[in-house]
Amino acid sequence: MTENNKKILLSGVKPTGRPHIGNYFGAMKQFVDLQDEYQGYVFIADLHSLTTTRDPKQLKQDTLDLVIDYLAIGLDPDKVIFYKQSEVLEHANLAWIFNCLTTMPYLARAHAYKAAEAKNKEANPADSGVNVGLFDYPILMAADILLYDADVVPVGADQKQHVEIARDTAEKFNYHYGETFKLPEPLIMEGVKTIVGLDGQKMSKSYNNTIPLFAEEKELKDLVMSIKTDSLGVEDPKNPEECNVFALHKLFTPADQLAEIKKRYVEGGIGYKESKDLLFESINNYLKPLREKRKEIAKDPARVIDILKKGAELARGRAQAKMADVNTKVGIDL
Ligand code: ADP
Ligand code: TRP
Repeated sequence: MTENNKKILLSGVKPTGRPHIGNYFGAMKQFVDLQDEYQGYVFIADLHSLTTTRDPKQLKQDTLDLVIDYLAIGLDPDKVIFYKQSEVLEHANLAWIFNCLTTMPYLARAHAYKAAEAKNKEANPADSGVNVGLFDYPILMAADILLYDADVVPVGADQKQHVEIARDTAEKFNYHYGETFKLPEPLIMEGVKTIVGLDGQKMSKSYNNTIPLFAEEKELKDLVMSIKTDSLGVEDPKNPEECNVFALHKLFTPADQLAEIKKRYVEGGIGYKESKDLLFESINNYLKPLREKRKEIAKDPARVIDILKKGAELARGRAQAKMADVNTKVGIDL
């Protein structure tokens, strides 16, 4: 709980390039929708990115872009404490203290580490292997979460184990040093369906089938036109539930128009070309204001950096108070 009696919601996002509409509906939008109900802490997990990135210029650009993306979709820095993980040194500091309580076999059971190790072996047996940072990824994440006594952590199903590791770590610390950390709950976005990509698989950067959230009109149009369909003709009745174009209509097309399109699918009389034209209009109407807002925000990078700086100051206040308690408990204060 905070001073204003709201529960604390915390999440980290890694800067990994252009977000797509799957990321938007599956994750990004949730933070905005929940920003009144909870006291939010949202940070750019740049320290976590260092486990996989070796390109400083790219990391810097991706970080700035991601902050602009979030501001453009409506994350309000007056409501949510929005900052960069590396600017609050207490994250790495607490991770070290947790490292000293965590055993190697325990961390070796983490899915993400096992997957990375398997991939690494396959890719290059002579390579130097998975880095220690990647092995330790869940402990830094535990520190991110526990430092702020987060109540809920909204994550995709793939991150659930990491929240469990944070809970285990809190319990271990509390057992050795007395009650200190709150046990966080994962908030799995059950209601969120998997958004399909251009080819009907899950939309994902790794499948190269995405519609970028901030795509310009021309790019958007070309992408919509490239959505995979079957070869039924205009007059053939079609099952809307099996159509990749219709799946996206459901997200973007207003209800009355959606019902009309559905009827024409079932009865026959709408071709995929027309359905795609209508879809392009719907997506474009939805995304245009976001795109314009993004351009406005991007004009003033100094303001963006300032938002992160102010966010970091607020986060640091809370993190430092927590670390003072931790340092006393473990015996490194004098
Ligand atoms: P990608 O698969 O494109 O690399 P990430 O794994 O970086 O995407 O996902 C970032 C966030 O977006 C996660 O919370 C994830 O659950 C959500 N997400 C990604 N793709 C989709 C999708 N197709 N549908 C719903 N949510 C998604
Ligand atoms: N591991 C998360 C991801 O890959 C990012 C992350 C880092 C995070 N620290 C966190 C998420 C703390 C929630 C809470 O998406």
